[in-house]
Amino acid sequence: MSIYQATTSAPVNIACIKYWGKRNESLILPTNSSLSVTLSQDNLRSTTTARADPSFAADCLWLNGKVDPIKAGGRLHTCISEMKRLRAAFEAANPDQPKIASFNVHICSFNNFPTAAGLASSASGFAALVYALAKLYALPQTPEELSLIARRGSGSACRSLFGGFVAWDMGSDDATGLDSKARQVAPESHWPEMEALICVVNDAKKGTSSTSGMQRTVVTSALIQHRIGSVVPSRMADIESAIADKRFGDFAEITMRDSNQFHAVALDTYPPIFYMNDVSRAIIAIITEYNRLSEQPKAAYTYDAGPNAVIYTLTPNVREIAQLILYYFPQAEKVVIGGQEVQAALPEGFNEAVAKRWEVGSVKGLIHTRVGDGPRVLSDSEALLNAQGIPKMLA
Ligand code: DP6
Repeated sequence: MSIYQATTSAPVNIACIKYWGKRNESLILPTNSSLSVTLSQDNLRSTTTARADPSFAADCLWLNGKVDPIKAGGRLHTCISEMKRLRAAFEAANPDQPKIASFNVHICSFNNFPTAAGLASSASGFAALVYALAKLYALPQTPEELSLIARRGSGSACRSLFGGFVAWDMGSDDATGLDSKARQVAPESHWPEMEALICVVNDAKKGTSSTSGMQRTVVTSALIQHRIGSVVPSRMADIESAIADKRFGDFAEITMRDSNQFHAVALDTYPPIFYMNDVSRAIIAIITEYNRLSEQPKAAYTYDAGPNAVIYTLTPNVREIAQLILYYFPQAEKVVIGGQEVQAALPEGFNEAVAKRWEVGSVKGLIHTRVGDGPRVLSDSEALLNAQGIPKMLA
C-alpha cells in the first residue's frame, strides 16, 4: 500500500505596502497592490502535513491540535478543492500517475508561535497548506501559480509562497483573478543585512478582523479612494526601486508612511477602527526620535491589524534599537541578541522625554528575526500525522 503524504513549512510575511480592501470578496481580489518582507522560518513558521488516502471518510483539518471545520464554500474548502482540481488535471495529462485526486485528505497544521501573540497566522497557514497539497499531488505549478490559490484562503497568504521581498500585483482581470498573484521582487540573499525586531504588545481586547475591517473601510471611507488611486501605485514603484538599490532610508520612509496611511484609513472608516494602542504609538515616537539622530532613517516601524510593532533595520543597528526598546519597555526575561545579553540604554543625544518608561509586560516579548526563504519541504520524520493519519499530538 502506497502512502501519499507531504510535510511542508511556510513563513510569515509583514507588509511594507499594506493590502487593505477587496474589489471581489469571493475571489479575494484586492483594491491595491501590496509588498511584503518574508520573515525567517527559523523563528516563525506554520508546518503542515497533508495526506490522501482511500480509507478517509471525509476531508479533515486540524489546526494546532483542534479540528477546524471545512465549511462548504468557505476558504479552506476553496483551497482544498482547487488543489484537487489541479491534481485531477495532472492525472488526466499523465495517465501513468496514481489516481489520488478523488481520495479524501487529512491535513494537520501547527504554528510555532502562539495565536495569542496576535501575530497573523493565516498567511503562513494557508501558504503551508497549499504547498503541502502541491507536494502531495506532485504538481508542476510554480509558486506564482500556487499563490493564486493561497490568495483564496487569505489575501496576504499569496505573498508567503516566496522568500525575500514579495509583491502581490492586484491584476485587472476581474472575471478570473488569474493575474492577481505574488511575484518575488528580490530573494532573501539580495539584502541579508535586513533584520526585524517584533515587539509583541499586550492586547486585552479582541480587535476587528482584517476581513470585516477592510470590508467596512471600502464601504465607508472616502480616504481609501485616494490611497488606492493616487498613493499606492507610485509607492509600489518607489519601494521596489529602493529594494533593488538597497537604499534603506527610502525603504524605511515608504514603509512608515504606508503603515501610517493604513491606520489613517482605519480611523476614517465609520465607525472607526483602532488597531494601534498607546504602546504602539509610544514605539512610533521612539523610532521617530531615533531616526532624527541620523541623516537617513535607520529603522522603520510598521503595524498590521493589531498593536504589535515590527521594526525593520539593518544588522549594525539591531542591538542599539533593542537597547532602546528595553529602556522604555523593561522585560521580565533577559533579552539575548547574537549570543549577548541586551542592556537597556539610550543612544547619545536621544531626547528621553518622547515617551514614558512603561511597566514590565507592556511589551510582552521581543522576537528578533531576519529576511527568510519561501516554503520548505520537510522530511517524513517531521510529519504531524501518524501512520493512521491522525495528528501525532492527539494520538
Ligand atoms: C493589515 O490577508 O488577513 O495584514 O484576505 O480577508 O484574509 P483576508 O485578509 P488578510 O489581511 C491582511 C491585512 C494586513 C496588511 C497586509 O498583510 O498586507
